[in-house]
Amino acid sequence: MGKVIAVAQQKGGAGKTMLASQLAVALAEGARVAALDIDPQGSLTIWGKLRAHSPKAAQALTLATISGWRLASEVEKLKASHDYVLIDTPPVIDSDARRAIRGADLVLIPLNPAPPDLWAAEGTLKLAAEEKRRTALIFNRAPAASRLRKRLEAEIAARGLILLDTALANRAGYANAFADGLGVTEAGPSTQAADEIRAVVAALKAEIHS
Ligand SMILES: Nc1ncnc2c1ncn2[C@@H]1O[C@H](COP(=O)(O)OP(=O)(O)OP(=O)(O)O)[C@@H](O)[C@H]1O
Ligand SMILES: [Mg+2]
Repeated sequence: MGKVIAVAQQKGGAGKTMLASQLAVALAEGARVAALDIDPQGSLTIWGKLRAHSPKAAQALTLATISGWRLASEVEKLKASHDYVLIDTPPVIDSDARRAIRGADLVLIPLNPAPPDLWAAEGTLKLAAEEKRRTALIFNRAPAASRLRKRLEAEIAARGLILLDTALANRAGYANAFADGLGVTEAGPSTQAADEIRAVVAALKAEIHS
């Protein structure tokens, strides 16, 4: 059975869709991957449509747009035929977000390394706790080292939350690849962004299979 990763964070613009798309492509380098869009904004779905016309889209992915009561059964079906099922969720705590979290082996929460982003994640953390789901935080748009980042790392550790030890920097490459329907590992396989996302994939695999 495949592992289900719900990318969730109540805060808008934290990088959920970007991360879901990048992880889908990078995970697909060695696994069968499905990516589900349950956000009515439909950004991941549009990315998938762009992908269909991009000659550089090397990795095969199963992409689907789903919402409502069908989600749980669809996830179950996809789990049987894929190693990873990624779910991109909307920036709200609603019944769909709850369904996605309920079916997840891991809830992955991207956040900028700044206290307001951790405050904004509280609703998602609470929901995951209610559903007894594992969570992992990941810093996005993170400076290599900053006082604020260190402070937040300490706060996360003090609360006993898991923070992936790999982070994503702010890189134009992520936004550019997304706009072309690609992952950075396809757009520029030997760029810093590609190395970074592969490191995130390794950390994520270690976490989810631990
Ligand atoms: N590490 C990064 N470097 C550069 N650009 C980034 C990075 N992360 C996200 N972005 C850009 O920031 C914007 C918001 O990201 P994204 O759409 O993934 O956020 P989101 O959490 O899915 O937003 P929403 O809550 O509206 O669904 C996008 O234009 C995306 O390309
Ligand atoms: Mg989004």
